[in-house]
Amino acid sequence: MDCAFGVMLFGLHRVGPKLHFLATFMVAFGTLISATWILSVNSWMQTTAGFGMNEAGQFIPLDWWKIVFNPSFPYRLVHMVLAAYLTTAFVVGAVGAWHLLKNTAPRRWRTMFSMAMWMATIVAPIQILAGDAHGLNTLEYQPVKVMAMEGHFDSHPDGAPLILFGIPNSADKRIDYAVEIPKLSSLILKHDLNAPLAGLDTVPDELEPPVAIVFWSFRIMVGIGFAMLGIGLWSLWNRYRGTLDSNDWLHRATVAMGPAGFVAVLAGWVTTEVGRQPYTVYGQLLTVNSISPVEAPAVAASLIAFIVVYFLVFGAGTFYILRLMKRLPRDPMPDLDDGPIRTSGVMPGPAAGTTHRSQHHGH
Ligand code: HEM
Repeated sequence: MDCAFGVMLFGLHRVGPKLHFLATFMVAFGTLISATWILSVNSWMQTTAGFGMNEAGQFIPLDWWKIVFNPSFPYRLVHMVLAAYLTTAFVVGAVGAWHLLKNTAPRRWRTMFSMAMWMATIVAPIQILAGDAHGLNTLEYQPVKVMAMEGHFDSHPDGAPLILFGIPNSADKRIDYAVEIPKLSSLILKHDLNAPLAGLDTVPDELEPPVAIVFWSFRIMVGIGFAMLGIGLWSLWNRYRGTLDSNDWLHRATVAMGPAGFVAVLAGWVTTEVGRQPYTVYGQLLTVNSISPVEAPAVAASLIAFIVVYFLVFGAGTFYILRLMKRLPRDPMPDLDDGPIRTSGVMPGPAAGTTHRSQHHGH
């Protein structure tokens, strides 16, 4: 959504600055409002609050304030909004970098690339810090999800290692070929090298989420986060050296990272949703019990309708956006490198200025 918004604004550059600003503000504001409500609902299902149960076993609201502002909501809202901005920055940056590599109308693409790289440089480190805080909140309210993310099948009474890579083996309850840094997980999660951390051995088998999916999706998201930070810092270095517009390798890397935000967002959501299994409402309602009294053909029909409509809408949107990205500006800005530009309008040009001044002196 945000990404579409970024590209749309890029396409809107012809409408004039006031309308441009208004459109930016409205879309950004609308996006935030819609993100707020959907993330509040989702967060409630992860970290419940402010509810009771009636005799029929149905959830009943008791305190709407607690429901809306449930414990994981602020973290999820910040993390998701930053994710959307980073995704947009990398799409816009990739388009700018692509055109810089092609060397067409460089001035326009320079501005675009430079703005996107500022966004990456500033937002990527903030996102990593926000992700860290989010993880600490998850440890407090959904500890089993964190065990799966970390790949901790065993409890570690005196400092748990950070497993960088490995192959989760749920059958034998271990990580095969693990590459790990001793005690680092305890340091990150408890800020103490020797802090004990419980593992999945403390959880009944039937309450264990699918570890391999959560373990890998988490690593894809975090890996992309650090790659984004790398591009941001690399661009800062090139900016300092004055080579932001001319470093082809930086531009190639940014083009390659164009879709990375989408991948990170999907990986993040897979971590969040698979990690809460086997529950739909964490700790309260098992997924196997979350069955509505709807016949299978009705479910299949609505699913097919969703697939068809989404395919058409997103297919057309993707096609349109890709065409916008490819298009060169119709009103190319004068390029400063192409030589001096003549001033026009109310500002007098150098030659006219002399005459102007001499006329003044005459009075
Ligand atoms: C590099 C450091 C990062 C860390 C430490 C981090 C941490 C986390 C954690 C712990 C969760 C799961 C929270 C839960 O389910 O309770 C999560 C989810 C998520 N992450 Fe990240 N993340 C990082 C980078 C990124 C990046 C770069 C993006 C996207 C550009 C991203 C997008 C998401 C999304 C969309 C979710 C699902 C929604 C949510 O639960 O907030 N993350 N992240």
